[in-house]
Amino acid sequence: MAEHTDYTPGAGSVYIRTFGCQMNEYDSQRMAGLLRMSGFKTVNDPEKADIIIINTCSIREKPEEKTYSDIGKYRSLKEEKPELIIVVSGCVAQQRGAEIIERFGYVDLVLGTNQINRIDDLLSEIKRNKRAIVQTDFCQNPYVRPFPRARDQYSGYVTIMQGCNNWCSYCIVPLVRGGELSRSSDEILSEIHRLTDEGVIEVTLLGQNVNSYRDPRDGITFSSLIDKVKRIEGIKRIRFTTSHPKDLSDELVDRYRDIDILCSHIHLPVQSGSNRILSSMNRGYTREQYLEKVRKLRCARPDISVTTDIIVGFPGETQDDFRQTLALMEEVVFDGAYSFKYSPRPGTRAASLTDNISSYEKDERLQILQDLQKKHTLARNNDAVNGIQEVLAVGSSAKDPLEITGRSRQNKVVNFKGARESVGTLVPVKIIKAKNNSLWGEAVG
Ligand code: 5AD
Ligand code: SF4
Repeated sequence: MAEHTDYTPGAGSVYIRTFGCQMNEYDSQRMAGLLRMSGFKTVNDPEKADIIIINTCSIREKPEEKTYSDIGKYRSLKEEKPELIIVVSGCVAQQRGAEIIERFGYVDLVLGTNQINRIDDLLSEIKRNKRAIVQTDFCQNPYVRPFPRARDQYSGYVTIMQGCNNWCSYCIVPLVRGGELSRSSDEILSEIHRLTDEGVIEVTLLGQNVNSYRDPRDGITFSSLIDKVKRIEGIKRIRFTTSHPKDLSDELVDRYRDIDILCSHIHLPVQSGSNRILSSMNRGYTREQYLEKVRKLRCARPDISVTTDIIVGFPGETQDDFRQTLALMEEVVFDGAYSFKYSPRPGTRAASLTDNISSYEKDERLQILQDLQKKHTLARNNDAVNGIQEVLAVGSSAKDPLEITGRSRQNKVVNFKGARESVGTLVPVKIIKAKNNSLWGEAVG
């Protein structure tokens, strides 16, 4: 492991803005933790910060555009306070590199997805040399240095692998996060042990495609990794994301039957219900195979909540293809779905196909799909009414500070009447009402 120099201990404060997925969320926690070790404190107001980090997402055009408008907002702050350091990290940083400095001359550091560990060293270098740095090299071992989490966290993320080898034709991830690299199970388990020392009782194992996890040392699979995590004292809940349907093994389905602390939720992106489109997306499964996996999961864990991602308006998607997506949704009745209009991404295979569905048509399909999903989400939420859900209480509810908020094993937000002291514990809650995006109830016992 490389030596790391401290960046002026106790010298100031850092503000981090995070866009995108949980991998970015985790990377932001890493940067915050590493900088805290160097004496920095994290703040919620960019105007009070000495370092501003914008951790970016390039999955679709919209988040990429948001990144640029966010960077633009800090121009005047930098003019007022020239010693302010501005960092652009994550997927847009990886993809655009030096272009970011050409466009925004006041950015000090462009930090690629494999270079997150080096944030403190690179900041020291900038301070010393008073010159901007672009560091976007991929490396074979973008190891995770131990880092402290923020206090009062009961649920923690741990990256088990990064990158992706699937090359779905629309997706920029393999280009901005590189090929699949799994961390050793020893390293993962010691990170989870540290989390439990800090009070975490729920762990979410993160990767673009956790099903293809292989320990680089002894080749153990994702299912065997779960077996090891379940034995860690203090861990009361295990979650993971994201799972690729083509690699979802029977072995993993069995874990839902056998391991109680594995939560009753799976995020299983389907993307489309049409075999023609799935093939053009290079997804590696058919709608029939997808439906069969959902059937097996429900057999193993009848109350499992299934959520998904769907893209509308992929090049060549006909009305009939779209109807097949709606029909698949009717068959599965997902608990939730993130749905997106197709957005061509530079360097992907689909970018060379004609983006032939008009924006108007994409909007219309998205609206129809979201209306249907809203109905399904409410129906699934209603299934929980009158039953008892185990909720990990994490704090006061945003809408009513007298209520507690948390998530059920099915990963649904539950607000409930209960004691403040229950925060940080698993609370049985009687569900009284289902809403569009949450459940409401009362603690029992
Ligand atoms: N256009 C629209 N949606 C996309 N996604 C990934 N790439 C694109 C794209 N180019 C969606 C997929 C993926 C989710 C994270 O983002 O549904 O599962
Ligand atoms: Fe992108 Fe496909 Fe990899 Fe998911 S599995 S990150 S959609 S290439």
